Amino acid sequence: MRFAAPPYMNDVLPYPLAKDGWLHTARWRYVEGLFRDICRRYGYREIRTPILEQTELFARSIGEATDIVSKEMFTFTDRGERSLTMKPEGTAPAVRACLEHKLFAAHPMLKLYYVGQNFRYERGQKGRYRQHQQLGVEVFGASDAAIDAEVILLAMEFYRALGVEDQELHINSVGTAASRPAYREALRDFVRPFLAEMSVEGQTRFEANPLRMLDTKDESDLRLLADAPRLVDFLDEDSRVHFETLQAYLTAAGVPYTLDHRLVRGFDYYSKTCFEIIGTKLGSQNALGGGGRYDGLVEECGGPSTPGIGFGLGMERCLLVLDALGIVLSVEDERPLAFLVTLGDEAKVRPAAVKLLADLRAAGLAADMDYRSRKFGQQAKRADELGARYLLVLGDGELERGVVGLRDQNTKEQSDVPLPEIIARLQELAP
Ligand code: HAM
Repeated sequence: MRFAAPPYMNDVLPYPLAKDGWLHTARWRYVEGLFRDICRRYGYREIRTPILEQTELFARSIGEATDIVSKEMFTFTDRGERSLTMKPEGTAPAVRACLEHKLFAAHPMLKLYYVGQNFRYERGQKGRYRQHQQLGVEVFGASDAAIDAEVILLAMEFYRALGVEDQELHINSVGTAASRPAYREALRDFVRPFLAEMSVEGQTRFEANPLRMLDTKDESDLRLLADAPRLVDFLDEDSRVHFETLQAYLTAAGVPYTLDHRLVRGFDYYSKTCFEIIGTKLGSQNALGGGGRYDGLVEECGGPSTPGIGFGLGMERCLLVLDALGIVLSVEDERPLAFLVTLGDEAKVRPAAVKLLADLRAAGLAADMDYRSRKFGQQAKRADELGARYLLVLGDGELERGVVGLRDQNTKEQSDVPLPEIIARLQELAP
């Protein structure tokens, strides 16, 4: 029996693979760290929610007729007969947590961020996985379009800080729940005469969730929809002004954007602003991130009327686009500063080595040794494999003289350093 990770779920490894170098924990940590830094600078605080939620939370917030809820959730019944779902996204859980802990009452305005795993039973392909990680933010309590601009700027600054210049911002407004039915009917009326020519998916969406017809990659559906009525022409006054104000703010901030009339996104909770950041080097799965406003969601989940807006950025797609652009991250150096090699009488040298290694680490230095009682040469080879900068040589002779040999792995120069001085010496040498 050979075990494998579940389909379209990735292992992220301690060493970069020649192929798929992006599945390297150091790169993931680097990107997460950058995101956390930016969030802190913008005044966002971290929230962590469980991997599982009551299934009903997602059904109600994302919407029964969406692809995610109708066919992509990992749902199971636990031993207590509860229906639980592995979270397919982070917005509804954040709302649930804030309601449960009464954060909306204590903090009329909340700015949150998260880094979390999401699960969707999707048709997997490059850039589309059944487990993916999102870096996301959610803001509650502000309806001003300036906050819409802020979350968009935050997302774009994140990609810019990584060196991704070719990102495109697409924006649209989906209006309010009250203004949408008129558009929905206009769209249906437009499509009805040639419904039979639409793809099976288009036809299903025509019935269940007509706005989703717009979100298609099917060439022939796209041609049929070319002159379809546009959401922006059906907006209520409030949504129209909000959308225009957002555009004015983006222009003021010098952020170019594209009005994308087909941008509707796959969640029923959105109202007014919707946006996506498109990576131009990503092929078909090119959405680097997306988000929008959800002014009715908190109420829908049983809370007080509270406006909200946020986004989620896909970690995997972020790393794939960095690879595609040949961007090399200056990831954390995981090499040991010093590697201790022992020789001679094991019974004497070993205890001293264990003690020295413990002292080095307690002093905050990255140090290691080979635990396999091997020959000097083999130990030194292990030091090379790990990329150690210095070799510390400890043998019977050194012990008798109360020194340790310090060898620079670059120059191969070696000198004896009195044992009590070695920590200070390495601290001086540490980068
Ligand atoms: P979403 O567009 O479904 O939005 O996901 C956000 C981002 O996560 C996508 O743009 C993409 O980069 C990445 N992503 C989504 N699904 C996958 C997948 N199967 N494989 C790899 N990457 C994926 C949301 O989830 C909303 N909750 C975002 C939001 C927050 N809206 C408001 N607040």
